[in-house]
Amino acid sequence: MRNANTAGRASRPTLNSRGEQNQARRLSRLVGALLGWFSANARDLPWRRTRDPYAIWISEVMLQQTQVKTVIPYWERWMRALPDVQSLAKATPEKVLKLWEGLGYYSRAHRLREAAQVIVGEHGGKFPTSFEAVQELPGVGRYTAGAVCSMAFNQPAPVLDGNLIRVLTRAFGIRGNPRRRSVSERLWQIAGQLVQSAHRLETVAETTKQRGGGNDRAAISGSRSGPAPAGWCSALNQSLMELGAVVCTPRHPRCEDCPIRRRCVACREGCQEALPQLPAPPASRKRRFVVFAVERDGRFLIHRRPSGEVNAHLWEFPNLEVSRAIPPEDLARLARQHFGLEVTDVHRLCVLRHSITRSRIMVEVHLGTVPLAKPQAKASTCWLGLSEMNRLPFSAVHRRILGRLAERGPR
Ligand code: ADE
Repeated sequence: MRNANTAGRASRPTLNSRGEQNQARRLSRLVGALLGWFSANARDLPWRRTRDPYAIWISEVMLQQTQVKTVIPYWERWMRALPDVQSLAKATPEKVLKLWEGLGYYSRAHRLREAAQVIVGEHGGKFPTSFEAVQELPGVGRYTAGAVCSMAFNQPAPVLDGNLIRVLTRAFGIRGNPRRRSVSERLWQIAGQLVQSAHRLETVAETTKQRGGGNDRAAISGSRSGPAPAGWCSALNQSLMELGAVVCTPRHPRCEDCPIRRRCVACREGCQEALPQLPAPPASRKRRFVVFAVERDGRFLIHRRPSGEVNAHLWEFPNLEVSRAIPPEDLARLARQHFGLEVTDVHRLCVLRHSITRSRIMVEVHLGTVPLAKPQAKASTCWLGLSEMNRLPFSAVHRRILGRLAERGPR
């Protein structure tokens, strides 16, 4: 005979599992709203038209620190020049850097090439499909592995980048610095629950369809025929990225267009712009560089930066960092002391300003001539004309100097 006390308890969900069921239902509704919105509003981006993990990986690495509209032509050019893992593994560092030129953070390009060589050497040239194996590739972290595995293979792998941090801290009212481990882990956990929920919904929808029931995907997708949906885990992760990019923006979020506004804690409390609680960025440092564009018979002296340094393998004009403005009469001496160059007729070409992470940089560019230069023994140093230099990869500011030299026209 059943014990009355336990019989009653056994047939009803415990408080904990009821709480979990409520949470699961809440997440499912959120996921449904996000999938429906994404299906109707997704931008038609070129990497959304493929499920090739290589193509998706390249796009994700380019999109780190760089905006979508900047990345599109780079990605298209890259995919034409290096359409697969094999071509990237075989490419010279210079070819890879030339394709990356202007995107910045050049170590990303070196890591891509190294990772392609690992895929060829250790995975028989086939992009790995397990999350762990993808995450072990050089330069691939938790975010990139999650992005590739969810978008290419529709795996329930979460992603968390700046856009998702903003969307999730606001939607779930998460306070505290998201760079703190405990806050970050909570956000990864939520991102994981959401993509798992998308996975569960997709499984249920497929089972229902196989049994001849209604098609939930069609219900979620709405009527728009946009880029082919690559699966619900893929769409869910991309919906969060998209929402962060176009609706849930850092300033003046467009909450009226948000599919989850009624479920968003920050929207309810009116504290959207106070989240995420990021610490104030450190003050930027002012730095000053002197560059010598030294000419001999219409050619300029340039050198390639060594491995292991910032901007490794990129070409540039001789330059040095200085702590103060250099008087014009001291410039020739500086060129002699630092580069062994006997420069005459030194005069200023231009002053350029640019910013990199935490530095505001002023670059004074000086032209000069060298009547007789010693032949350059090192392969990393050479004298080249403008059109030859255009074929080499330069960092952004030195590319601008090339532009200024070209504007001067031939002497
Ligand atoms: N930002 C990061 N990944 C992205 C993607 N796949 N599409 C659009 N924006 C992104």
